[in-house]
Amino acid sequence: MDGRGQPYVVPFCYVHVGGCFYTPLDEKPKSVDPRKLRRVRNILENPRVSFVVDRYFEDWSQLGYVMVQGFADLLSPGEEGHDEAVVALREKYTQYRDMVIHERPLIRIRPERFVSWGDLGVAQRPELDLMGLMRGRRSVRWFTDEPVEPSVVRLILEAGRWAPSPHGRQPWRFAVLTRSDPKVRLADAMAATWREQLALDNQPEAVVATRLRKARERLVGAPVVVILCLYLDDLDVYSDDERQAAETTMAVQSLGAAGQNMLLAAYGVGLDGGWMCAPLFCPDVVRGALGLHQQLIPHAMLTFGRAARDPVRRERRPLDELVELYE
Ligand SMILES: Cc1cc2nc3c(=O)[nH]c(=O)nc-3n(C[C@H](O)[C@H](O)[C@H](O)COP(=O)(O)O)c2cc1C
Repeated sequence: MDGRGQPYVVPFCYVHVGGCFYTPLDEKPKSVDPRKLRRVRNILENPRVSFVVDRYFEDWSQLGYVMVQGFADLLSPGEEGHDEAVVALREKYTQYRDMVIHERPLIRIRPERFVSWGDLGVAQRPELDLMGLMRGRRSVRWFTDEPVEPSVVRLILEAGRWAPSPHGRQPWRFAVLTRSDPKVRLADAMAATWREQLALDNQPEAVVATRLRKARERLVGAPVVVILCLYLDDLDVYSDDERQAAETTMAVQSLGAAGQNMLLAAYGVGLDGGWMCAPLFCPDVVRGALGLHQQLIPHAMLTFGRAARDPVRRERRPLDELVELYE
């Protein structure tokens, strides 16, 4: 605000480094003495400042803001902290890489008081656009034991809800496991099937034991498990088997789309996900272990959490190899 107490509000870009906030003076023309800028004159006259970082989502359960109150001053090139803040600003905002912010003073805000509202557990990856998210998403199989906030679980499920589906029927339901008991129950129940199937492949006992242990650890160790279930009751009914089978295939296809939406949403908020096909091979066992409705057909398990380590990415085929016809 100015010396008479009149608030003067401007939007700004910032970084938070070493406990202070920094924002550059990137106004054009660059020849203008920054000390003549209105906001700078105000700060020199009255260093008390407030700012609000707001987060808006269409889903209002995700709304939130942080208000910071503190004191501002100018930090000139060469002064301690200036270079570091410029580097951080250029890392956060690529646009600053081509601007001369390093030759100009920065406004430094020393926070005194924070006020926040809303569930701030969810933080979108600001640096990735949709293509970046699709390229960056990777299958992660091992997670840290850090729990996933309920609001983030909700965001992931919400993403699944918006998947395309045949006739818009949404032929899927999701079973969500976050507590240890049901995960252990499910892993124990599926272990017998895993063992039988590995035996069918004539695997030596030592290999079977290791793979069983790993599959179990993967399931029980994932902070969140979402079981994707097919739900066919709302699909169109046909008099012939062929069309009915196509209808079911469409439902399965859209279940895949729901899964992908969830994986991308998780990646978008800094988590990772993995896909386990195991339920497809023992839907009755999964249903029994979790007491799921008879009409639900478990198809896959998605595991979510924070990656314990970066996985090795699978190579992608060149696009030319995938596009058979482009007329
Ligand atoms: C339908 C489907 C089933 C999958 N089943 C498994 C699985 O049972 N176990 C597993 O570790 N990964 C599974 N995956 C993940 C794939 O192995 C993974 O997507 C693939 O190797 C490409 O790696 P990326 O996801 O990191 O790009 C499955 C993926 C899909 C789409």
